[in-house]
Amino acid sequence: MKEINSTAEFKSRIKKILITKEEIDEAIKKAGKEIDKIYDGRPILLVSILKGAFVFMADLCRAVSVPCEIGFMCAKSYYEGTVSSGVVNITMDLDRDISNYHVVIVEDIIDTGRTLNDIVKLLNSREPLSMHVVTLLDKPSRRIVDFNADISLFTIPDLFVIGYGLDCGELFRNLPYIAEYSED
Ligand code: IMP
Ligand code: MG
Repeated sequence: MKEINSTAEFKSRIKKILITKEEIDEAIKKAGKEIDKIYDGRPILLVSILKGAFVFMADLCRAVSVPCEIGFMCAKSYYEGTVSSGVVNITMDLDRDISNYHVVIVEDIIDTGRTLNDIVKLLNSREPLSMHVVTLLDKPSRRIVDFNADISLFTIPDLFVIGYGLDCGELFRNLPYIAEYSED
């Protein structure tokens, strides 16, 4: 990724808004209701995969009505700019035993499926009461590992996207919408 040294350069990389803030808000309300229905009053532990899912987590946790705790795990993105290196690395683990929890994994995007496939295997080995996966975005055309979320808010084509927590070179996470990234 070419360096960004000004707001003008930053803005020039935002090619096109794909999903507006209003569309995201509406989809999250619906997802919150779906989660409430699945758990039917039982307490849950929302586990956000950092860093990308931190914004989604903040909104999703306020859209559920069941009692909910939150936890964080960091899976270092294996992206150098927009290119995958194919290695998944868990750099920060949960701070508690999950064997007494109904776990809901909260992810920003499923691309090749490798990250979530590894995380789900790892967390399942700790024998939670149950586990579901919610993803904001899904790029099914890029799948390498056969993995699907239980709840997926938006399916998108094979484009590199930024905003609402998703980065390119650690920038753009603060955009309130999802946009297509462009380097030219
Ligand atoms: P996967 O392991 O290939 O499914 O990739 C998941 C991770 O790759 C996500 O949690 C993101 O951090 C990153 N990623 C995949 N596609 C994009 C994208 O279009 N924009 C930003 N990050 C992405
Ligand atoms: Mg990332």
